Amino acid sequence: MWFRRPGVLSRLRRMARGEPGSYHTDGSISIVGLRKDFEEVTAVDGIDLDILPGEFFTLLGPSGCGKTTTLRMLAGFEQPTDGQIFIDGVDVAQTPAHKRPVNTVFQSYALFPHLDVEHNVAYGLRWRKDVDKHARASRVAKALDLVQLSGYGKRRPHQLSGGQQQRVALARALVLEPAVLLLDEPLGALDAKLRHSLRAELTALQREIGITFVFVTHDQEEALEMSNRLVVMDGGRIMQLGSPEEVYREPLNEFVADFLGVANLLDIECVSDTGLVRTIRYGEFTLEAQAPPGYDAGPGRAVIRPECVELAEAGLTGVNRLPGMVDRTVFLGSTTQVMVRLPQGAVVQSLVTNSAGTGTFTAGKPVTVCLPPEALRVLAASSDQHVAYAETG
Ligand SMILES: Nc1ncnc2c1ncn2[C@@H]1O[C@H](COP(=O)(O)OP(=O)(O)O)[C@@H](O)[C@H]1O
Ligand SMILES: [Mg+2]
Repeated sequence: MWFRRPGVLSRLRRMARGEPGSYHTDGSISIVGLRKDFEEVTAVDGIDLDILPGEFFTLLGPSGCGKTTTLRMLAGFEQPTDGQIFIDGVDVAQTPAHKRPVNTVFQSYALFPHLDVEHNVAYGLRWRKDVDKHARASRVAKALDLVQLSGYGKRRPHQLSGGQQQRVALARALVLEPAVLLLDEPLGALDAKLRHSLRAELTALQREIGITFVFVTHDQEEALEMSNRLVVMDGGRIMQLGSPEEVYREPLNEFVADFLGVANLLDIECVSDTGLVRTIRYGEFTLEAQAPPGYDAGPGRAVIRPECVELAEAGLTGVNRLPGMVDRTVFLGSTTQVMVRLPQGAVVQSLVTNSAGTGTFTAGKPVTVCLPPEALRVLAASSDQHVAYAETG
């Protein structure tokens, strides 16, 4: 990859550790009760969050959920209505944007069209009185080397591809040796193929230099692939915090279950309310399911991912087995989506891997549906979403 070249990594590590005279720190962030009201809109509605030094941390959520506003408050471009932000333990309320140990990469590269690449990158150093002309030139050269644009210093932005322009934006941010890099949908303007390859490069770059990345995206695949941990946001609030696997496999509520991929939702009744394995009723059937502690008995919903729904020949009985009827199938190449209608009328999707000799599930065929207890999860009611986060986050 472009940064895996002799000398590049050691320089990156030195940058990440900080050099004498630089404002380099560890890059931990602590957010307490953060809130932002615009005139009629509450963009951020009380966020508590700790981001660890060196973490690739993602704010994931639909458009308008408050991701950019949160990032802008971290950067110092926006004043919180309430709450505090600590960077490396220091309350930054009184610290102007250009004095914070953070830097931002935007989706719209925001390069100056009239400046060449070198001057665009050097522009980030304009506040640094301690960096003389010689040091500036060498730091610009290093930063361009990092993003593999060494030969491109004299070009203007319009002479570069979209991916190259985004790398210039990245170099301009890295030249300042920030402890935290804030990235607001940085891959959003690129075409799908380039986006995919840049995901891997950006992730590897972050892992190597070890500075904290706070990455914003509405793309769940991007978030799952790149992050150490992430929050799923909605309506200015955190719906769940966890590793990609946790939020995907163990969604706490319907919003998270639905936002991260395909969710089969069942209306159920929780019978027992003790223990991690719950007895639930789905119509006339008694099932076992997972549920985090603190949930009440009563009506609710349970979720299971399509790849966890197992199908077998009709007539089998046993734990969490139900009779079903294949409704329709969708061939997707390596897998087939099989929609199965359950006795109560709900249709669940099963994802069947296509290997030689499969293809036995055709519309109208009776089958046994198995919902493994470890993959079937009771969800918190929507009104409890925030409570659910507070309990486990
Ligand atoms: N400067 C502003 N003035 C008024 N409303 C704003 C402003 N910036 C953002 N908002 C509103 O705040 C909400 C969150 O916006 P934003 O943080 O940009 O969301 P996201 O980045 O997740 O799409 C939206 O409803 C948006 O319209
Ligand atoms: Mg945004």
